[in-house]
Amino acid sequence: MKTSSFTKRSLITFVSVFALVSVLMLLSSYRVAGRKNATSEADTLKGLKDFYKGYFPIGVAVAPNSFEGAQAELIKKHFNSLTAENVMKPGPIHPEEKRYFWDDADKIVNFAQANGMKVRGHTLCWHSQTGAWMFKDAAGNQVSKEVALARLKDHITQVVSRYKGKVYGWDVLNEAIADDRDSTKIFRESPWYKICGEEYFAKVFQWAHEADPNAVLFYNDYNTENPVKRDKIYNVLKKLLKEGVPIHGVGLQGHWNVDNPSEQNLRASIDKFSSLGLKIQITELDVSIYSSRTDTVNIGFTPSREQKQIDFYKMIFKVFREKKDLITGVTFWNVSDRRSWLDRGNKKVYPLLFDENLKPKKAYWEVVKF
Ligand code: XIL
Repeated sequence: MKTSSFTKRSLITFVSVFALVSVLMLLSSYRVAGRKNATSEADTLKGLKDFYKGYFPIGVAVAPNSFEGAQAELIKKHFNSLTAENVMKPGPIHPEEKRYFWDDADKIVNFAQANGMKVRGHTLCWHSQTGAWMFKDAAGNQVSKEVALARLKDHITQVVSRYKGKVYGWDVLNEAIADDRDSTKIFRESPWYKICGEEYFAKVFQWAHEADPNAVLFYNDYNTENPVKRDKIYNVLKKLLKEGVPIHGVGLQGHWNVDNPSEQNLRASIDKFSSLGLKIQITELDVSIYSSRTDTVNIGFTPSREQKQIDFYKMIFKVFREKKDLITGVTFWNVSDRRSWLDRGNKKVYPLLFDENLKPKKAYWEVVKF
């Protein structure tokens, strides 16, 4: 009798505790779900730039005709910095010795100003997309070093002066260091190097600085995470800084892919360049689903490539956030997978955070989840 009433009581206690715990769990799961829903609703209203407000500006490379329809809305919602994908390069903006063409670049600067966005200028001196006239005289012969430098000075002075106070920083010198393949060669054998030798490196930064003393001046390059190329760039910049050349930052282009660079090499490059007192920007970010640019098989945006891309984007943005004191900007190279400069024919590369319908990809949601 005693035992049975004890068993009854403990059964009642057990059932009551079980019921109480269940109710509490149910309630708390409602609360969590409610909170989650509320956050994700708010999250869809936010843009990439809003998530990264306390970190760094988020930029995008655009063309003068990028500001139409839904794409204009996407640009305004997610980005607070613009870069001209092509139209500020020497060739397009300075097609002939006595003629500058400002209209296209002005359209981008005007859109940025109208929408409270920054503009980072790209690029003042490069071996590519530069008028052949720069290096030739009237008879078609190669010009002297004096003539080449005088033209380069005029170019930099005109372009930087025009956008003084509107373009906050410039990729002054682009891709001027030789690739890692040849470890003995430091400088790229560009027409500038062949005609002027290495002294044009210091001059381009000095001229840009004279034209706009407030502009932040960058050396910009790709494969900056490759240890051989990283060291070459580091050594050249170190020497220039020692000579007092006004260089303020290094642009890591960030044309990466789902396998490269490693987290270790990415961290090492940011740390090494920063150790010179230079600011870091990721200037041309895209993450190809192909490991190699020469990969010709069209594999498509398969679930496994998608997952690799998600993991890679997650990794790099975690590193960027951790190093936010060293990083002053992250710029994507193109807006969405609708068009990337890396697409070739029907081989699409899907390197960005927005899909062909301009919708945020899964990788986007991982990049803003922190
Ligand atoms: C690319 C543009 O995206 C293309 O439209 C153009 O045809 C070639 O140049 N490194 C740079 C950028 O510094 O200027 C390049 O932009 C991509 C590689």
